[in-house]
Order: sequence, then structure tokens, then C-alpha cells
Amino acid sequence: MQPPVITALVTGASAGIGAEFCRQLADRCDVIVATGRREDRLSALAAELEGQAEIHPVVADLATNEGRSLVVAAVHQSGPLEYLVNNAGFGAAGIFAETDLESQQQQVDLHITATLALTRAALPAMIERGRGFIINLSSLASFAGYPAGMVYGASKAFLNIFSEGLQQELSSHGIKVQSLCPGYTYSEFHDRETISRAGFSREQVPPEAWMDAPEVVALSLEALNGEQVVVVPGEHNIAVARESVRALLRQLGA
Ligand SMILES: NC(=O)c1ccc[n+]([C@@H]2O[C@H](COP(=O)([O-])OP(=O)(O)OC[C@H]3O[C@@H](n4cnc5c(N)ncnc54)[C@H](OP(=O)(O)O)[C@@H]3O)[C@@H](O)[C@H]2O)c1
Repeated sequence: MQPPVITALVTGASAGIGAEFCRQLADRCDVIVATGRREDRLSALAAELEGQAEIHPVVADLATNEGRSLVVAAVHQSGPLEYLVNNAGFGAAGIFAETDLESQQQQVDLHITATLALTRAALPAMIERGRGFIINLSSLASFAGYPAGMVYGASKAFLNIFSEGLQQELSSHGIKVQSLCPGYTYSEFHDRETISRAGFSREQVPPEAWMDAPEVVALSLEALNGEQVVVVPGEHNIAVARESVRALLRQLGA
């Protein structure tokens, strides 16, 4: 009998943390369905990982209904997924009263609606097979509301709560859910116009607050062996998350 094909689907695979998930999952998977809007980047990733894993690029904008339908179809065609990494995301910084609603809505569509659609599509086959890993890319920004970034943070907080509840529903099915909350991570995230237009520059952030994508991804995959659902990579980030939770407890008088 042929051994089962081990398949992953990674959204936002054309850059940063998503591309790094593909690199590190290539050791564990036969096939990786890699999605993003930039076809040339997905082709370059396929060439880079040739001989390690077969990359199936799917070009789709997950902030749109059409794009989500394309990727949902890819989930159905791929057979049971071993790994689903809901990673595609971006930040739209700006004072809410002045910001364009469209980019705020796109964050919700990409981080929340796409994650719900792909997770719902992947689960029946995972449940039938009795195994699987779902990693949702949240953020350190999910622990508190900050001016000019709270729609982003709130969309990521949704993923923490969603992941915690989902894990409880699925633990008897052999499926592990993780909400990964990186802090500042070197990638293309902070180069995007929706961040830079708010005047952000990397130098504003102390060097000790930054992590590299390979380190973040390695800690995420390592944490799949443990019990934690909400995973904060790196000591500096854990200290920041702890302070945010303490501030909430103080508001509650605890
Ligand atoms: N970097 C950080 O400091 C940081 C911190 C905490 C959390 N995160 C989260 O980590 C995840 C990955 O971000 P990153 O740092 O790797 O940023 P990145 O380098 O900018 O990569 C983002 C990825 O998402 C894809 N993407 C963006 N909009 C999309 C859309 N509408 N439809 C489909 N794909 C889309 C991009 O591909 P295309 O442009 O080709 O579509 C790209 O592959 C995000 O969810 C982000 O919120 C990042």
C-alpha cells in the first residue's frame, strides 16, 4: 500500500512568515498548496523547494469572495490536509475616524472571513482522518487595543478566541489548533503602503523587539507538540503579552 500523501495549505506563501512556513513544512510534507496574489513569488518558491516538496501555487485574493472560493475549491481537491496555515494578512494603520473603511474591511475579510471559510472547508476531511494541524496567524496586537491599529488587533483577537473554542471542539478528533501571536517580525509586512502611510519606520522599534521569520515558524511548529493554543513566540513578546493581560486584569479590579 502507498503511504498517504502529506499535504499542507499555506496562505500568504509568497512572502515573509508564510513562505517560511512552506520552507519548514517542506521537510514534513509531500505537497504544499501555496496561495498568494503574486504568481511570480509562488513560482520562485516552487523552484526553491523543488526536490523537497511539490508546490501547488494558487493565485487568489483572499479578501474577495471569488478568491476565497478558488482556495476553498483547492482545499476540497487536495484531499485531507495535514496542515492548514491561515497566514495571509496585512495591517492597515490609521486613525479610525479618518481611515478609509475599505482597507479596514479588507483586514476583517482576510483575517477572519478567509480563515473561517478555509477552516470550515478543511475540517470534515481532517475529522474523518482523525488528525491535522491548524495554525491561525494572530499577533501580539491581539492582546490590547492600540490607537491607529485596533481593527487589525481586534481581527487577530477574534482568531485567539476562535482557535481556543475550536480546539475544545476538536480535541477528541486528534486535531491541534494554534493561534500564533508573533510580535515585530522581519518580513514585507512593514513595507506595505497601508503601514508606511502612517509614518511607521522599523527604527522606531527597539532591536530586541524584532524576531526573524525562521525563528517564529520554528517555535510555532515546536509548540504543536504541546497543549498551548495561544502561542507567543520569544521571551520579549511573552513579557509584552503578560503586561497587556495584567492591564486588563487591573481594569477588572483583579
Ligand atoms: N511581520 C510582523 O511583524 C507580524 C507580526 C504579527 C503578526 N503578523 C501576521 O503574520 C502574517 C504574515 O505576515 P508577514 O509578516 O509574513 O507579512 P508579509 O511579508 O507582508 O506577507 C503577507 C502575505 O500575505 C499575503 N496577502 C496579503 N494580502 C492578501 C490578500 N488580500 N489575499 C491573499 N494573500 C494576501 C501576501 O501575498 P501577496 O501580496 O502575494 O498576496 C503575503 O504572502 C499576517 O497575518 C500578519 O498579520 C506579522
